[in-house]
Amino acid sequence: MRYGPIIGAGAMISLACSWAALVMAPQLQLGALAPAPIPNTADFHPATRPGLAAQGAEVYRSLGCQQCHTRQVRQTAILFGARLNELGTNGVNLSVPGSGQTNVVNLDLLFALAKARPDLAINPVQIPSALAGDTNIAPKLDQFSKDLALFRRNDEKAGIVRPGTGPSVNELAGKLPADVLVKVSPEAAERAVKLLSEAGGKAELVIYNLGPDIERGWGSRRSVARDYVNDNPVLLGNVRVGPDLAGVGSRAPEKFAAPWKAATTNSAVEFEQRLLVHLYNPRLLAKDSICPSASYLFESKQPNARYSGRPLKLPGIDAPVYPKHNAYALVAYLLTQRGDIGLPEAPVPALAAKTSPVKP
Ligand code: HEC
Repeated sequence: MRYGPIIGAGAMISLACSWAALVMAPQLQLGALAPAPIPNTADFHPATRPGLAAQGAEVYRSLGCQQCHTRQVRQTAILFGARLNELGTNGVNLSVPGSGQTNVVNLDLLFALAKARPDLAINPVQIPSALAGDTNIAPKLDQFSKDLALFRRNDEKAGIVRPGTGPSVNELAGKLPADVLVKVSPEAAERAVKLLSEAGGKAELVIYNLGPDIERGWGSRRSVARDYVNDNPVLLGNVRVGPDLAGVGSRAPEKFAAPWKAATTNSAVEFEQRLLVHLYNPRLLAKDSICPSASYLFESKQPNARYSGRPLKLPGIDAPVYPKHNAYALVAYLLTQRGDIGLPEAPVPALAAKTSPVKP
């Protein structure tokens, strides 16, 4: 046993290394994760669940919904884009006095756009005949024509062929906000934003989160560790028999497995109703649904509990059905599952706001 101490020390070191790699490093990386403030609001994400939703989390767990549903949106790639929001103020005013129309053209911006998108046609800017005598404007447009000629020569040298038809730079600059570049590398998008900003325009970098989950509308971004800091235990789920529920509370109506056409009024109430009907009997919404019915969360007479509301409106059924407390709790929990709030480590695309999310 001459080597006993050495073997002992070796075993200690390998155990210590494994402990450091498997326990200490993750703790250092993730142990201090806290909800992040949502910019321009007083709120945090993930928000602490209100009491009813916290009870709903327990109902979700006790009913084993995680056996068939995951709560984890995955993303395969991220790409970038450049969006032009404002033309800026250093344009040439080509509005004809008295015509009531404004026509301000930012010539620098037209060049910047043309540089950012070599596939766009750049057309000369016509001077309105009423302004032909304007000593201020004419030289500027003259210079523009000269610059344009030079630019075209450079194009030829670089082998860039600009189409004669299709949208021109001038048209693109006329419709704002305009997506100048869509789904390109970060370098290309940054260059375009820089060119446009230097020309006086207001441009922003746009991100595009990509992946099958995001295309299905299950969320606007991937799920990250921070999304689960308020969960105990974290019910990620590992089998996707049903759709992912990580963002079900902010899912657009048409993105459900049984899509519906949302009414324009009071969509939060409508959303709640819809989830309650689904819980009562998923077959009422999707004929062949294999999602198990949780009709035991409902009663046929009004319960005496605190959250006993109005009877549920069920498609094709007249008999009143009252959701019990746990049905409301489960729905409240589902509504707190949001996939549309960005985090510093997983931002959401600016366009996501278009799908008017339903507030819990
Ligand atoms: C046997 C597996 C299974 C279990 C367990 C299950 N579901 Fe489902 N769920 C599905 C399937 C499959 C769908 C797909 C749509 C359909 O068939 O209606 C679905 C759809 C849903 C939807 C609609 C989502 C969408 O995008 O259309 C919700 C909400 C939902 N389930 C909630 C729950 C809740 C809450 C529980 C726990 C009480 C639960 N599910 C348990 C299989 C399951």
